Amino acid sequence: MEYRAYYIEEKDGVFSGSIKILDTPEPNDNEVLISVSYSSLNFKDALCATGVKGVAASYPFVPGIDAVGTVAKSKTDAFAEGDKVICSGYKLGMSVNGGFGNLICVPSEWIVPLPKTLSDFEAMSYGVAGLTSAACIKSILDKGVIDSLPMVVSGATGGVGSVAAGILSKIGFSVTAVTGKSNEDKFLHQIGCENIINREEFLEGGVKPLDKTAFGGGVDTVGGDILAKILSQTAQKGSIACCGNVAGASFQSSVFPFILRGISLLGIDSAESSIELKKHLWEKLGDEWKLDLSEQTKTIQLDQLNSEIEKIIKGLQLGRVVIKHGE
Ligand SMILES: NC(=O)c1ccc[n+]([C@@H]2O[C@H](COP(=O)([O-])OP(=O)(O)OC[C@H]3O[C@@H](n4cnc5c(N)ncnc54)[C@H](OP(=O)(O)O)[C@@H]3O)[C@@H](O)[C@H]2O)c1
Repeated sequence: MEYRAYYIEEKDGVFSGSIKILDTPEPNDNEVLISVSYSSLNFKDALCATGVKGVAASYPFVPGIDAVGTVAKSKTDAFAEGDKVICSGYKLGMSVNGGFGNLICVPSEWIVPLPKTLSDFEAMSYGVAGLTSAACIKSILDKGVIDSLPMVVSGATGGVGSVAAGILSKIGFSVTAVTGKSNEDKFLHQIGCENIINREEFLEGGVKPLDKTAFGGGVDTVGGDILAKILSQTAQKGSIACCGNVAGASFQSSVFPFILRGISLLGIDSAESSIELKKHLWEKLGDEWKLDLSEQTKTIQLDQLNSEIEKIIKGLQLGRVVIKHGE
């Protein structure tokens, strides 16, 4: 038996992706073979597809850090043939061939049942980006935020940012978007952002150790100077979740936001979070945090991946991209 996948190969240091027919893997004890209906495009997939070091373990390889579908073969009592399941993170799309193939073979500990309130398409409209937004929001709510001030979301038009903005708005916060896109105000208002700050303007005047407070908490998806500026403007006892590095992996701050305002900087690693937490977050995404992402999700086929990967690498992606298998 064979399956169809977007396969990354390396030749003389150049990485390229194309559609290949691969041999179907046979699940070992405690593994399941999943017939994938949808995957989604995440920033990490683009890094993997373009050969950025430290992402995929080796090449040739099938990216795709998330997938939803139906169990086709089970070597565990935990899941039966026909069960609808979601797999995200751990080593999927990193060292185990991922969701850009229409079959994946994974340990049963990596999967959760698809909540009954979510369709396959809806689950991947969130994908890892949405799960990460949910992890960020849970962490800041658990730690504490000041609800009299807006929540800030950076990289707000991107995958993680747009879902975070939508959920925060849905649960009653005023959301301030920090964005590099000057012509997407309509999109940002539609997803629930009340205030929009242009990235360049936000950084004008540089980063001070402490600045006038503007945010009760927030989700930073970009890192670098933007994270430093957000920290300097976060109010007493507010919390900022830090999950991304598209603007830079390092940032310069001071101890003052921490020792004079008692703020918290919360690190998020959704890929390696426990399967119990993932199950809880997927249920929330299907229930009280449920968003209609259909207007901000583009559906593509495997043969459209090259151009979408280029777009996400350039920071030009808007909302979410899902990959539909089987056509
Ligand atoms: N820690 C985790 O568990 C986890 C999980 C998922 C993703 N991530 C990370 O989160 C980040 C965002 O992922 P994503 O899937 O949302 O990617 P995405 O869809 O490409 O969104 C990133 C957004 O960041 C903004 N941006 C792009 N380049 C920038 C730059 N040079 N400076 C400042 N902002 C820039 C853009 O939004 P605007 O134009 O609106 O500013 C862009 O749309 C990535 O670093 C990814 O690796 C981490």
